[in-house]
Amino acid sequence: MEITLSVIKADIGGYVGHSSSHPDVLQKAKEYMESAKKQGLLIDYHVTACGDDAQLIMTHQKGEDNEQIHKLAWDTFVECTEVAKKLKLHGAGQDLLADAFSGNVRGMGPGVAEMQFTERQAETVIIFMADKTASGAWNLPLYKMFADPFNTIGLVIASNMHSGFAFEVEDVMEAKKIKFNAPEEIYDMLVFLGSPSRYSITNIFHKESNEIAAACSTQHLALIAGRYIGKDDPVCIVRSQGKFPAVGEILEPFASPNIVEGWMRGSHHGPLMPVPFHNARATRFDGPPRVIAAGFQITEGKLVGANDLFADPAFDEARHQANLLADFLRRMGPFEPHRLPLEQMEYTTMPEVMKKLAPRFQSV
Ligand code: F6R
Ligand code: MG
Ligand code: MG
Repeated sequence: MEITLSVIKADIGGYVGHSSSHPDVLQKAKEYMESAKKQGLLIDYHVTACGDDAQLIMTHQKGEDNEQIHKLAWDTFVECTEVAKKLKLHGAGQDLLADAFSGNVRGMGPGVAEMQFTERQAETVIIFMADKTASGAWNLPLYKMFADPFNTIGLVIASNMHSGFAFEVEDVMEAKKIKFNAPEEIYDMLVFLGSPSRYSITNIFHKESNEIAAACSTQHLALIAGRYIGKDDPVCIVRSQGKFPAVGEILEPFASPNIVEGWMRGSHHGPLMPVPFHNARATRFDGPPRVIAAGFQITEGKLVGANDLFADPAFDEARHQANLLADFLRRMGPFEPHRLPLEQMEYTTMPEVMKKLAPRFQSV
């Protein structure tokens, strides 16, 4: 059975500030999704939130980039914005950057990760959702999952994974993409992946079968809008088990926290903290950046789940280390590398301060 799994997300208002989502907004999204399911457009759906981002997880048979599915997501977000406006939530409708829907939500503000596949005998998927960070945040964990034998022993000892994976990487500044084969080309690939503010993994394929293994949202809100709107707060779908990494191999990279860009005012480096669903609330210095992992078995398109995969004491030490890193970085206040380099900050007063002080600068 051919299934498309679409995850479309947007920040349509924060409660309180930019910390989390309001239940009434999510309830409205559920009503919209339920009616689309009744009409037969969706096979199934799951509505959730990560911080201030509403997440629509949908299964259907319309394929990727389908106008009806994207319009459903857009209309849902527009209706949810009405609820957010009534409650005067902070930044109501902030990610809806277009006045009207025009065929595909890509480029209109919401983040999109989609994949189409033939449902396996047991179709295990994990959906990662992050808040207060950018799409490049997936580069390091995805590299570990699909190319690092110190993380994924299956690459070494499972014959159905032994030939490796192909990584599709996008240059988000120039809107170009390139495919690398791992393990053969990892040294070339890491030149790019190691610079996640510019190069993001978009898709990963099982090399032997060319089957889709992972799909990420790479939409950069600031590049779409030409000004700061909010962080991209990306999502990522990973297929698991069999010829794909096991659930434990997929979660393992998050056991040692990665430092990502985002956090307060989208202008800092901070640890990406893996948390259970109920802790996906960005409160300390508007963070630190968070990631949740929702596990599902997909059964004839039905979403059996969500299983809260970071709700496990085995990730307590990662959370503890993330807090220590957060303390350490916070001590640096407005200094780099806690604060992002000038050209990467999402907020800046540099032009106005520079203009004011220009007459006082002297040649050296
Ligand atoms: C970061 C984020 C927050 C806001 C901050 C100021 O992605 O969303 O840290 O940047 O709370 O928000 P505004 O400018 O809306 O008052
Ligand atoms: Mg927000
Ligand atoms: Mg957010």
